[in-house]
Amino acid sequence: MITMFPIASVVGGRRDPIDDDWGDETATIRLDKARFTPESLRGLDEFSHVEVVFVFNQVRQNEITLDARHPRGNPAWPKVGIFAQRAKARPNRIGLTTCELIGVDGLDVVVRGLDALDGTPVLDVKPYMAEFAPRTPTTQPQWATELMAGYW
Ligand SMILES: C[S@@+](CC[C@H](N)C(=O)[O-])C[C@H]1O[C@@H](n2cnc3c(N)ncnc32)[C@H](O)[C@@H]1O
Repeated sequence: MITMFPIASVVGGRRDPIDDDWGDETATIRLDKARFTPESLRGLDEFSHVEVVFVFNQVRQNEITLDARHPRGNPAWPKVGIFAQRAKARPNRIGLTTCELIGVDGLDVVVRGLDALDGTPVLDVKPYMAEFAPRTPTTQPQWATELMAGYW
């Protein structure tokens, strides 16, 4: 058992769990004012992108998948394990997204392209560093490329 407290909430952006066209969405990640001051964000604005770790809190426990399923329920795509896809109904319900950083203002981090709904609890924000990207060429199956075609 691990107990975590969100560091922030997503404020603004989309309210409905629609899966595509996230690229132009802007949202604010607002730090918990009871625990943080702007000092926690000092220097973040020197980065162009951030990685955001969040919780799919609107996914109910009984929706969570443990084994293989067709991504988005599409039978044209192969059944793959929950850890071979990025579905929200996953154990621990954790999402991870790299977003463009628009700005930092007090306890607010404004981002573009965060695919988290308004009110989503945020567990962590990290600056994106190129050296932490894959250091060898990346590959992926065709179904993943098709699924992502309209995502951003
Ligand atoms: C497919 S997941 C991918 C998230 C992240 N990019 C990742 O790979 O971990 C993103 C979808 O989760 C849904 N979603 C976002 N925030 C949510 C929340 N708080 N509760 C439930 N579903 C959420 C949205 O419909 C969004 O399209």
